Amino acid sequence: MHTTISPAILYWGSIVVLITTENEDGTPNIAPMSSAWWLGHRCMIGLDASSKTTENLLRTKQCVLNLATDSMGANINALSHTTGTEIVNPSKLTRGYRHVKDKFGVSGLTPTTSDLVTPPGIKECPVQMESELAGVHKMMQDVSDLSGAILAIELKILRVHVEESLKLEGHENRVDPDKWHPIISNFQDLYGLNEDKAVVSKLATIQEELYRPFTA
Ligand SMILES: Cc1cc2nc3c(=O)[nH]c(=O)nc-3n(C[C@H](O)[C@H](O)[C@H](O)COP(=O)(O)O)c2cc1C
Repeated sequence: MHTTISPAILYWGSIVVLITTENEDGTPNIAPMSSAWWLGHRCMIGLDASSKTTENLLRTKQCVLNLATDSMGANINALSHTTGTEIVNPSKLTRGYRHVKDKFGVSGLTPTTSDLVTPPGIKECPVQMESELAGVHKMMQDVSDLSGAILAIELKILRVHVEESLKLEGHENRVDPDKWHPIISNFQDLYGLNEDKAVVSKLATIQEELYRPFTA
């Protein structure tokens, strides 16, 4: 039997991305986020407009999307409740956030040099995607006092770096889903995936290269 409820959040489960951006003074910022989905070589992310990451991304038009694994929970927790903005806004203060300038230091993560963009990648993340801003949409324009408080941001993926061990044997450009272990933000908790597939996928019978036209 179903019942009607009104959850305060609808975070049904998506992978954690650690976004790196560049601050005004050239230092890097990291923010964990999980409102991200992918189509072609584009990624749509949902960001609080007041975050340092948003400010940096709109100013520099560049970021790196670093995908965290299920063994990186401690790094994510170290970044949780932190913001690169010097003045922590009232909403974040209520939720226990504090200002942290050195996100690499606090999280124990290691910066890597990117090829095409200024923000660094994160060495510990087996997937790093150098990206540039392609579009911005203000969300909740139908609610006057919240209009634009969150943004849907389209990113164009410029270059994908993956750990060699994630590649599907015999394929230069494919990831082996059995070897990829993302960490999932499910409501506010963090989960790994089960080792096994839930079912043998009919969709997976399509040759991946047939999707190539959407990588522009
Ligand atoms: C697991 C996890 C998932 C998160 N997902 C999002 C998200 O999808 N969008 C968002 O704006 N903030 C998200 N946050 C909160 C941001 O990390 C937070 O706003 C942070 O202060 C941003 O850092 P910055 O201000 O330095 O950019 C998430 C935090 C955690 C720990």
